[in-house]
Amino acid sequence: MYEEEYEHRLMDAQYSAGDDADVEISLRPKELDEYIGQEKAKENLSIYIEAAKNRGEPLDHVLLYGPPGLGKTTLASIIANEMGVNFRVTSGPAIEKPGDLAALLTNLDDGDVLFIDEIHRLSRSIEEVLYPAMEDNVIDIIIGKGPSARSIRLDLRRFTLVGATTRAGQLSAPLRDRFGVILRLEMYTPEELQRIVTRSAGILGVAVDEEGAAEIASRSRGTPRIANRLLKRARDFAQVMFDGVITREAAAMALERMEIDSLGLDNIDRRILTAMIKNYNGGPVGLETIAAVVGEEAVTIEDVYEPYLMQLGFLSRTPRGRIVTAAGYAHLGLTMPGQQKFDV
Ligand code: ADE
Repeated sequence: MYEEEYEHRLMDAQYSAGDDADVEISLRPKELDEYIGQEKAKENLSIYIEAAKNRGEPLDHVLLYGPPGLGKTTLASIIANEMGVNFRVTSGPAIEKPGDLAALLTNLDDGDVLFIDEIHRLSRSIEEVLYPAMEDNVIDIIIGKGPSARSIRLDLRRFTLVGATTRAGQLSAPLRDRFGVILRLEMYTPEELQRIVTRSAGILGVAVDEEGAAEIASRSRGTPRIANRLLKRARDFAQVMFDGVITREAAAMALERMEIDSLGLDNIDRRILTAMIKNYNGGPVGLETIAAVVGEEAVTIEDVYEPYLMQLGFLSRTPRGRIVTAAGYAHLGLTMPGQQKFDV
């Protein structure tokens, strides 16, 4: 009975990363050389990997942070592949009890990569199991309950922890300090996204011309996951309505039907800006209030929508709340109160 429950929890704690993991995996590059963009992170990482391999050691623990969809899981799997070790995947919320983490750690082979997605969501008690594991390759586990409880120390095989988070600031300082390598992933340029779209189209076996790929790229909000999703929908339109080739026209029709505008903003982005303007005169307004009006979770707005709106300069954070900028008004075809239109 105990065995069964234990196995069950172990299975729970292992999960597949990403919403559409099995579809996405085939598009994922397996080697650093195939990975497009993130040049700074890639250059340093390739040196750390080569040096660790030359020394016959596992790579130091790596923390990847940045907005969702930029390839943190992909990069972690590339690290495992380049190091020639197994890639084990779990996530902060999937690890409920210290025993879950202990089971994962004791089942690793020498040098394996353990990937913990959303590592900022680990509970304090689990973080505490992780510290000695990261530092000294040991875990202390408590056996039994009450007065007869005792702690035993288990030696672990060497491993590399790769943690991913959208918010490095939420990580506790002791955990953050235990990562030897901290890499921040940046949003991709339209040119990089165009190369990713072209590469993915090749893997999917769909024809895309340069302009079609550029159209998708420029409306993917700096994010490969979105670019690949839009590519698949553009493929549907191309197949049914445009002789199978993703041209600018086919891509534009797909994007229009999905209500994605020329800059890649979707319905929710526009609802956020419109709600702030209509209900709160463009702000300042608090995040929770925006979330309630739009009907999304505050964390989703903060992690998924805000970074791109801020990157475009449509929204700013101030100490008193969020505000829509003049550029944000202009994108919606509105004029900011107090701003006059000047003919230039
Ligand atoms: N697919 C998703 N992200 C990618 C990247 N950074 N490079 C190449 N292909 C990708």
